[in-house]
Amino acid sequence: MEKLTDEVYESLQEILFTEEQIQVKVKELGKIISRDYQNKNPIFVGILKGVFFFMADLLRAVTINCEVDFMAVSTYNNQEQFKGVVRIVKDLDIPIQGRHVIFVEDVIDTGLTINYLLRNLRDRNPKSLEVCTIFNKPAHRLIEIPVKYNGFDLPDRFVIGYGLDHNEKYRNIPFIGLLKAEKIHSP
Ligand code: IMP
Ligand code: MG
Repeated sequence: MEKLTDEVYESLQEILFTEEQIQVKVKELGKIISRDYQNKNPIFVGILKGVFFFMADLLRAVTINCEVDFMAVSTYNNQEQFKGVVRIVKDLDIPIQGRHVIFVEDVIDTGLTINYLLRNLRDRNPKSLEVCTIFNKPAHRLIEIPVKYNGFDLPDRFVIGYGLDHNEKYRNIPFIGLLKAEKIHSP
């Protein structure tokens, strides 16, 4: 907490999970994944930018051989007919055919984005494909997503921190919290 200046702290309404709680959970996930993927050299795949904080912590908690790659996408947020459709603006560098893939997410909300990307990855014929997310909002799901590794369930509220942003801000907060109502929608 002492890392935050008042400028940041004043935007927060409530802390949902502390830095320590998150770090403990990430280490647990790293341990479980290391056990499940021994001798499988998995590829961790993430979507920029939100996931890179979690990815960095998770990979340092993983104790087996592994690789990491990122994609970048743009969504069509305001156009109803494109709901759940994303455009890949940076594809993976590593071919995933025949490989064990772990799709890493920061938060799964409606599930529409990840559903689209999982279908895209599945078409490339990986040997296996599982999902690992640090935050999950099950109450807001529009489509069922099989989540093998789950960090924390969150209420159906807008949260920030640990990679999650509001208008690109607050990603650097080391815990997860609720933004004050008056800060939502203001740039
Ligand atoms: P979905 O397609 O609704 O599952 O959208 C997931 C994406 O929306 C995440 O990868 C985030 O980028 C963003 N998102 C969803 N909920 C939140 C939130 O509470 N705070 C910040 N970003 C969020
Ligand atoms: Mg994201």
